[in-house]
Amino acid sequence: MEKIIISGGNPLRGTVQISGSKNAALPIIAATLLTSEPCVIRGVPNLSDIQFMCDILRWLSVKVEHHKTEGVVEVRAGHPLGVAPYELVRKMRASVCLLGPLLARLHNCKVSLPGGCVIGDRPIDQHIKGLKRLGADVVVENGYVHARCNELIGNDVFMGGRFGSTVLGTANVLMAAVLATGTTWIEGAACEPEIEDLVNFLIKMGAKIKGIGGHMLEVEGVTELHGAEHTVIPDRIEAGTFMAAAAITGGDVEIHGARAEHLSAVRDKLEECGVTVERNNGTIRVRSNGDLKPVDVITMPYPGFPTDMQAQMSAMMTVTPGISVITEKVFPNRFMHISEMARLGADVSLEGASAIVKGVKRLSGAPVMASDLRASAGLVLAGLAADGETEVNRIYHVDRGYERIDQKLRLLGAKIERVAE
Ligand code: UD1
Repeated sequence: MEKIIISGGNPLRGTVQISGSKNAALPIIAATLLTSEPCVIRGVPNLSDIQFMCDILRWLSVKVEHHKTEGVVEVRAGHPLGVAPYELVRKMRASVCLLGPLLARLHNCKVSLPGGCVIGDRPIDQHIKGLKRLGADVVVENGYVHARCNELIGNDVFMGGRFGSTVLGTANVLMAAVLATGTTWIEGAACEPEIEDLVNFLIKMGAKIKGIGGHMLEVEGVTELHGAEHTVIPDRIEAGTFMAAAAITGGDVEIHGARAEHLSAVRDKLEECGVTVERNNGTIRVRSNGDLKPVDVITMPYPGFPTDMQAQMSAMMTVTPGISVITEKVFPNRFMHISEMARLGADVSLEGASAIVKGVKRLSGAPVMASDLRASAGLVLAGLAADGETEVNRIYHVDRGYERIDQKLRLLGAKIERVAE
């Protein structure tokens, strides 16, 4: 296992290149199961979650070539098997999005339930409900979701749950509906940019989908799809993380390759904190003199403030004078990073799904433990702002979603190194 050691206190300066989106690439790679023809996906980040997805596809007897340095995944799903086992699925919750495409292609599949997750309860009732609406018989038995049908038949499906529309649930129903007989209306569809990217890829494969980017997707089923090439969108959460890193260190960072329109809620909050954010010719420049103002943040489905940026924002607020309130409306228990930030001297108390953050003058470095992907990003940011040395252990969590984060931060002037634990 590896850990990251950070000597904090350096304002970040320079430019950083954003990688392709993990959360867009994963369902798009799953969607290649919908055709026996070759598909080429570009702009794929070199991350452990992508390797897990490629491994699962290989296990399903699918031909996968992953050119890691070029960021290209080539898939040919000639005759995929229909069972995704626990040993592979448990490594990555997102593998649940194999359910829709395998069901559509094979009419009979079993995908292991992904199991627990430290960011809270993550049910898949909406995925199951959606697939049932398309005529599938779905049962959960022996730890597997077993879905089968004679044919999938278009219907209206509502994807909004208690905490808003489900992203991967929408992806699953969409991927099943593209090969269903007749028309499906997905109401309350998640409209995250990653879903829009999946829709764009499916359209390139020959799917007929209207309402792209909106809450109501109309899918006219087709009998078969063909191979396609696609470049995934840039990772808005990686970009947002570097924006917050510039702000928390009082730095000046130009972010290249991100889509500013996917980051409006993050930009808006940073501006409210007193950070300068400029959009110039496809770049985002983030400047701060370190004089931050407290804010209230509520995480919401897109286009609201993303839950995947909550830990990074919490880190910023720990060193912002005054009181900030951060409320989680998507994953109400997603506050594992708070007790670790307290080890650095942060003053935060939890009230239900809200964190009340009293900004302190300085954090002071200490060993901390990463518990999940975005929590670890929050801890890295806190370490960048802390006096002295911060050791972030279990850094494999950060490697699931950030391509070479230590190298990218080092290029911006951070004192950061990766060592064996
Ligand atoms: C995706 C993202 C994740 C992000 C999340 C919310 C990927 C690979 N992951 O996860 O990074 O944090 O969206 O933006 O894209 N829910 C139910 N029933 C369901 C499904 C979900 O109640 O059947 C609840 C969840 O517990 C959660 C909320 O709905 O409270 C949103 O979850 P969802 O959008 O499904 O998250 P994921 O798609 O798993």
